[in-house]
Amino acid sequence: MEIYSTLVDHLAEHGWAVTSELFAPETITDLAAEVRTLWGAAAFKAAGVGRGADFQTRADIRSDHILWLDDKKLTAPQAAYCQTLETLRHELNAQLFVGVQELEAHYAVYPPGAFYQKHVDRFSTADERIISCSLYLNPDWSEADGGALRLYEGENFIEVSPQAGTFAIFRSDAIYHEVLPATRERFSLTGWFKRRSLQHYSGLSSQV
Ligand code: OGA
Ligand code: MN
Repeated sequence: MEIYSTLVDHLAEHGWAVTSELFAPETITDLAAEVRTLWGAAAFKAAGVGRGADFQTRADIRSDHILWLDDKKLTAPQAAYCQTLETLRHELNAQLFVGVQELEAHYAVYPPGAFYQKHVDRFSTADERIISCSLYLNPDWSEADGGALRLYEGENFIEVSPQAGTFAIFRSDAIYHEVLPATRERFSLTGWFKRRSLQHYSGLSSQV
């Protein structure tokens, strides 16, 4: 489909791409309502950095709160989101031969003043994340509210305002990015397309 291939073409050329046309408006409305309900029900935990034994909460690096989607218990709007991302996954593999096999995704809430310092999304201890994507869930957001996603292209950057329905996609290994503080609560659903890590193939790990 054309929206998908235009998005993937831009990603291939720049390492990132942004669109507001990928998701049905009712999917955005439903996800936005759901994330607010879950946040109100205190279902989130403080986000951290690192994986496994390296995990630690570091409010000096990131101060958001997250809730992972459970792919065995998807709600209807979550299933709609996953279906769109599945179409995108096929398009990424068909156009770029990136061989991404699965998606992991979490809701994120940045309370007023919260941020995520400049970083890349690939952990030094895990190489599975290939493509990152953030879907924003804030109706009536204005640029003056802050909370932009800043995507770096070398010394230059672009800023994406987290307006409901805006979807940003970028290379997990190469694109430095940061979340600027906002004056309002900032809601999003962030996902990563992953390839199986070489560590997964235990038969290989003894040979390297
Ligand atoms: C992340 C991240 C960006 C955003 O969770 O790693 O960079 O705009 N999120 O929420
Ligand atoms: Mn990130």
